[in-house]
Amino acid sequence: MIDVKLNGCKSFVDDSTMNLYLDKVEKAFDTLMGGKGAGSDYLGWLDLPSRTLDSDIVAQCDRIVQRWSKNIDVVVVIGIGGSYLGAKSFIEAVSHTFDVQLRNYRPQIVYAGHNMTEIYLADLLDFIKQKSVAAVVVSKSGTTTEPAVAFRLIRNHIEGRYGKEEARNRIVAITDSSKGALKSMSDKEGYTTLVIPDNVGGRYSVFTSAGLLPIALAGHDMKDFLEGARAMERKCKVWDRNNPAVQYAAVRNALYMSGRKIEVLSNFNPRLVMFGEWWKQLFGESEGKDGKGLFPVTMTFTTDLHSLGQYMQQGERIMFETVLSIRQSNRTIVLATEQENLDGLNYLSGKTIGECNKKAELATIQAHVEGGVPCAVIEINNITEYNLGALYYFFEFACALSAYTLGVNPFDQPGVELYKRNMFTLLGKPGFVNNK
Ligand code: PA5
Repeated sequence: MIDVKLNGCKSFVDDSTMNLYLDKVEKAFDTLMGGKGAGSDYLGWLDLPSRTLDSDIVAQCDRIVQRWSKNIDVVVVIGIGGSYLGAKSFIEAVSHTFDVQLRNYRPQIVYAGHNMTEIYLADLLDFIKQKSVAAVVVSKSGTTTEPAVAFRLIRNHIEGRYGKEEARNRIVAITDSSKGALKSMSDKEGYTTLVIPDNVGGRYSVFTSAGLLPIALAGHDMKDFLEGARAMERKCKVWDRNNPAVQYAAVRNALYMSGRKIEVLSNFNPRLVMFGEWWKQLFGESEGKDGKGLFPVTMTFTTDLHSLGQYMQQGERIMFETVLSIRQSNRTIVLATEQENLDGLNYLSGKTIGECNKKAELATIQAHVEGGVPCAVIEINNITEYNLGALYYFFEFACALSAYTLGVNPFDQPGVELYKRNMFTLLGKPGFVNNK
């Protein structure tokens, strides 16, 4: 399902160092599975795939999909960080690249609340003006400013156009079971409300309705996604030094302690750009604290081989690379032979573009390893709902293990709160006083 290949790390991490880190990860594994570590109130994600498959969440999401299937053109998914990245990254990975231009969809999913940019929101309001609109607002805390501001705008738009009663049919809130402004507003206004469980943090919430409802609305198979995750859940939870999450957590800690401060997650498929954004949040927020942590960066090749590839090859040797590799392409295009061969490409005749991309991947790994960049490879067979489900769970599990190995709490994000407090003070939010 998922293979972690560490050949490209062998000349940088010798066997005894790897064994030392596998021992450390074993302790982290016991801490995680025993619920004994920092942040252990937030371990609800550990069995989310199996728990969700056995619950009525899939049916709840299906009912909303049915309700909106006939009359809604556009769903605005409002959220920031873990409250939108899982859904958006999955939808982009499995959707046709030109879905929007091909008008393949119904409804179309667009996003808001992940920035506070006036021009973006004004453009969005222009876009939805002539469309039949619904909204899914996602906020675990129910108090985050960016989605709250966007929701006020979209709610006013929906209520203004359709009236308060119809707005109730067109708004779904996904939030905490009891706390926060979004929960109290939803109760008062009578919005359909789905819950992000108390013990699941934002960046671990892709298998809650925060991820599942937008995925289902975009027409993708929630069950396959959850089945893939459940298979991975079962695999990850059994201690084994060859467990892929264990291997990955061990090697990245070994490389970090040997002076590599940056991890580049590279892929060779532009549909995975947003997946990289999800991964950055997961690892950046989980590990970057207490003056520690790998800095997570993403690159999409071959595109970035013509920009940051130069730095990767010959710049400071402060990074290692994790290649997110897709064994098989879902589409096939074969290059034809041309009699005149004016472009000199006949040496590629009969090859698929996917084969050429694979050779680019192998060539890149070889060049980077030779250039002093350790390369780990994480491989899935192809991009399907099932395999992606496994991949998201794999990274969540590996991240928790890795953070405990590093000695930090994987489940808090105290740094994120600091800018929020300053912004509230500057904006004059009641209760936030300027002490300067
Ligand atoms: O991982 C996290 O917990 C955060 O990144 C949150 O997802 C993000 O800050 C959004 O928070 P909320 O869902 O409470 O609006």
